[in-house]
Amino acid sequence: MKNLIAGNWKMNGTMSEAITLAQNIVQAIQNEVELLKKNDFLVCPPFHHIVPVQAELSMAVSIGAQDCSPFSNGAYTGDVSAEMVKDVNCSHVILGHSERRQYYVESNLMVRQKAMVAHEQDLTAIICVGETEEQREAGQEQEVVATQMLESLPETATAENTVIAYEPVWAIGTGKTATTDDIAAMHDFIRGKLAEKIDNAASVRLLYGGSVKPANAAEIFAVNNVNGALIGGASLKAEDFIGIAKAS
Ligand code: PGA
Repeated sequence: MKNLIAGNWKMNGTMSEAITLAQNIVQAIQNEVELLKKNDFLVCPPFHHIVPVQAELSMAVSIGAQDCSPFSNGAYTGDVSAEMVKDVNCSHVILGHSERRQYYVESNLMVRQKAMVAHEQDLTAIICVGETEEQREAGQEQEVVATQMLESLPETATAENTVIAYEPVWAIGTGKTATTDDIAAMHDFIRGKLAEKIDNAASVRLLYGGSVKPANAAEIFAVNNVNGALIGGASLKAEDFIGIAKAS
């Protein structure tokens, strides 16, 4: 399967910066079209940047949202529904990112509800899981990740509409990356556990996330059961984002 190179722009940038970033990404891919043989590209800007960013993107780059409401529609001030995300031609939505779990106390149950409404809209849910540093030090990483994943996955999950992103919390935005042995162990474990929930679990894309950059991408992509990356900081510079794809 092709690697998914997914950029999570988080809460960064002005409108004009977002548009320039999209233009630079498209330009960089046009200059190296052979990258499309091995990679699918996705960018996930803040909600209100989605439409103008998409106007700059070519077919080669898909667009997604960073979250959606667990509710279908109605009086939920501040929320954006999966239907609205779909309506502006997004193909993906990131759900259960550790920043949302940490700062907005999102539970597995809530992530599961969000994934259900996303699937109803034919969106691919990128469900994020990952342990904290304390949990890893206590040797609980597999237990934590298995519980998060199995409880966050709804019955509607299939190999086509679901991507799992393993992002150790201690590696996000910190410059620390898990060792390739740690990534291999966790991705093999996730693949095995997924079979309890999803038919054809071998076809589910498993992304690694946490301080991925051009300098460490090649060794990460070489790990068995790594099918792409969810990239935060390095996705904000077209050169780095494309540099990561070049390593695949
Ligand atoms: P990072 O973020 O690449 O800046 O570590 C990854 C993520 O949070 O998805």
